[in-house]
Amino acid sequence: ASALDVEARRILEMNDRGGYSVPTAGLYPYQWNWDSAFAALGYAMFDLARGWKELEVLMAGQWDDGMVPHIQFHKVDPSYFPGPDIWGGVGPVPSSGISQPPIAATMARLIYELDPEAGATPMRALYPSFVAWHRWFMDWRLDSGAVCLTHPWEAGRDNAPDWDGSLARIDPVGIDPYERRDTGHVDPSMRPRKSDYDRYLWLVKQGHDCGWDQARLLEINPFRMADPTMHFTLLRAHRDLAWLGRELGLDTASLPDWIAQLEAGAETLWNAALGAYDVRDTASGAWAQAVSNAAFLCWYACVDPKDSLATYARVQAPVRFGVASHDPESPAFEPKRYWRGPSWAMMNMLIAMGFDEAGLPEGAALRDSTARLIAENGFAEYFDPLTGAPAGGRDFTWTAAVWLAWCS
Ligand code: DGY
Repeated sequence: ASALDVEARRILEMNDRGGYSVPTAGLYPYQWNWDSAFAALGYAMFDLARGWKELEVLMAGQWDDGMVPHIQFHKVDPSYFPGPDIWGGVGPVPSSGISQPPIAATMARLIYELDPEAGATPMRALYPSFVAWHRWFMDWRLDSGAVCLTHPWEAGRDNAPDWDGSLARIDPVGIDPYERRDTGHVDPSMRPRKSDYDRYLWLVKQGHDCGWDQARLLEINPFRMADPTMHFTLLRAHRDLAWLGRELGLDTASLPDWIAQLEAGAETLWNAALGAYDVRDTASGAWAQAVSNAAFLCWYACVDPKDSLATYARVQAPVRFGVASHDPESPAFEPKRYWRGPSWAMMNMLIAMGFDEAGLPEGAALRDSTARLIAENGFAEYFDPLTGAPAGGRDFTWTAAVWLAWCS
């Protein structure tokens, strides 16, 4: 093993809290949903049983309605805000009230493929909870066949410029005074602005006040964005879950119809004027008019890429490391501010999986540039796509996992 392999494993072990991982100590001291899915793959590279365990703990936090929350607060830690009391999650583990991009079934398939014999028993046990979670998205998150988010944190791309116009229409009245903790861990210039946080908390309050009743939230929540991240990750996850179900002789009856619905719904995310899959505000119908890295998950989801490859070449022209999370030519681009420009190793991996499967050479190139990014700058949360400079949290679980599973 190389020195970087050893370091990646050390980070995964350091961030292990006993059956589940935290993304990084301090900034994110709890179990995050999509972080945990990548972590599972990372652990599986040196300890298969630990990889399955990560997914088992994640899915054990599933709510009665099928939702798997984006944060599970296993042990209260005052270094993070907003904590369990602000969210008021109603599941078996104290949690947030929204979900996150469903990466877990796709990672489960990759772990299963490492050793199908060892994976059969854990995968059989997990399968019904994955189906129930995917059904929850189909029941509560569709608009004209496109998958939506109801809070910027649900897409994981917290402060992407994609939400700016729609968030600006929210007047965040009625939230209690609060003290942020994230800016005590990381330089504020790399984090979302206060105006964003006010709206994040206002949206949490809407959910909290109605006990996370999804039917009620559909009526009152003004923020409902049809989004390529949610859409492409769920479509891919449906395909991988159907594969696993067939492999293990389990009931896959619902999946073909869900896949067909999302294949058709992808059309409603295609912004022809932009030349990319884009975010659509379901209330106004307005496009975000923003090329994000999520747009380039279309190959990963195996949908028609249309003009996406030409757009990729254009947007990526000034980029040296990975895929920029927002078009560098856009006035909203900020190379170090979280989801407004930086390059994210795990997004690069998903995008490259799609390129590879489509037989495009961009996949290998993306892997090389991501590997160089990590080798030269360490296991940061994310990176400046122009200079490679590390940003956000350090000793980061998903960056270490991506290194072991894909780069090393
Ligand atoms: C945070 O606290 O910044 C997280 O990204 C929310 O999920």
